[in-house]
Amino acid sequence: MSHMKGIILAGGTGSRLYPLTKVTNKHLLPVYNKPMIYYPMNTLKEAGINDILIVAGKGHAGNFLELLGSGARFGLNLSYEVQEDAGGIAQALGLAKDFAHGDKVAVILADNILENDISPAVQEFADQSAGAQIFLKAVKNPSSYGVCEIQNEKVISIEEKPKMPKSNLAVCGVYLYDTSVFDVVKNLKPSARNELEITDVNNWYLKNGNLKFSILEGFWGDCCESFDSLMEAGKLVQNSRLAGIVSS
Ligand code: DAU
Repeated sequence: MSHMKGIILAGGTGSRLYPLTKVTNKHLLPVYNKPMIYYPMNTLKEAGINDILIVAGKGHAGNFLELLGSGARFGLNLSYEVQEDAGGIAQALGLAKDFAHGDKVAVILADNILENDISPAVQEFADQSAGAQIFLKAVKNPSSYGVCEIQNEKVISIEEKPKMPKSNLAVCGVYLYDTSVFDVVKNLKPSARNELEITDVNNWYLKNGNLKFSILEGFWGDCCESFDSLMEAGKLVQNSRLAGIVSS
């Protein structure tokens, strides 16, 4: 496999989970038997990606460093970057430009838990593809996510948290990008909620005819949406193979 780097985005405020996140970062909260961030870390590791940058919010970066260290005990090589303000997922991604250093990247949100191994898609992307790849999952509440409309096996539109979703396919928080992603991020304008949106990045690739998708198998959880989704994620982990992975 040609070389790909991993980026875990763990900035943001976590206000939806107050008071759990008053003194602890949400990505350090327990999901069954491990801190939340262990799951995205494991997803990248299983996909053969060992060089990983963790982008953390100011005030919390030290906690991640203390918990994870160099990454050596996980068989990983971890680096850290600080996002000063929660300016959006795409802003956090932009901070990884020097780390990526011309390699393709696999980006994962630190609150996303995937049951299945995504290495086939990552390997194919690393070896062959330019552009970007997103992962989709049918959900009951699409309005809480980026929503993707597919026709004839092609992406037609992606909308961020639409009131009237055009499909039930949520865009999961895992993205594969070629090296042009950092130029795309640089040229983004803030959205109405004053964030640089990852959906705008994906729409740029869509407009340029270079956006692929695949449907994610196994369960997928964005565990910071609510207390219930956090608890639900814990139960899913408890009853899956993820209960048995890296717990050092
Ligand atoms: O989970 C999938 C969804 O994630 C996608 O379907 C949406 O398109 C995408 O916008 C995102 O929606 P959320 O509402 O879940 O995003 P949230 O603001 O909760 O941020 C998710 C993670 O991204 C968060 O756990 C850490 C990271 N993040 C977020 C922000 C706003 C950062 O690193 N920096 C930030 O400034």
